[in-house]
Amino acid sequence: MPLPRFGNVADDMSSTSFLVLVLVLIVTCSEAELATEFAEASDGGTATLPCNLTPNKPSDKVSVVVWHKGVEEDPIYKFDLRGNRPQHWAEPSLGDRFFMRILDDNRSVLTISPTNLSDENVYHCRVDFITSPSRITHVNLTIVGERF
Ligand SMILES: *[C@@H]1O[C@H](CO)[C@@H](O)[C@H](O)[C@H]1NC(C)=O
Ligand SMILES: *[C@@H]1O[C@H](CO)[C@@H](O)[C@H](O)[C@H]1NC(C)=O
Ligand SMILES: *[C@@H]1O[C@H](CO)[C@@H](O)[C@H](O)[C@H]1NC(C)=O
Repeated sequence: MPLPRFGNVADDMSSTSFLVLVLVLIVTCSEAELATEFAEASDGGTATLPCNLTPNKPSDKVSVVVWHKGVEEDPIYKFDLRGNRPQHWAEPSLGDRFFMRILDDNRSVLTISPTNLSDENVYHCRVDFITSPSRITHVNLTIVGERF
């Protein structure tokens, strides 16, 4: 009788270790995904929100970049590189204040100018590539005081 019981304990132990491993992996992955950039701008000034364009494979190319604001479902900005010429689109209600710029192969920024208090939020930039999995950058933008 004791032997099968030991067997069961061992089985329980290994499935517990497996569960712990899975949990650690899940937590590690979501932490990587939630890694947040911070940006700060004065009210009425210019905000610069970074977005990482680095593909997993060096030969890969960006196809579309989509920005979301807070928990809003609809995008606020799109940058489409699939055609002959890059296409910019910005949510009209945000005014003509948003513009995305490519800095180099790996880096881009979304600038907001002039900022106002309603811009304070966490922004999410999703980069789709031709073949690599999408990459997401979260940016927490704080608007500080007034510009003098
Ligand atoms: C910020 O600017 C937007 C677009 O111009 C405007 O709709 C909004 O009312 C402004 N918000 C504040 C708090 O000034
Ligand atoms: C972009 O990132 C890749 C991979 O990390 C690196 O090999 C490459 O040199 C970087 N390019 C620039 C312009 O920083
Ligand atoms: C964004 O940053 C502000 C100031 O550092 C902080 O109070 C707030 O909790 C952050 N929000 C999120 C969702 O990380």
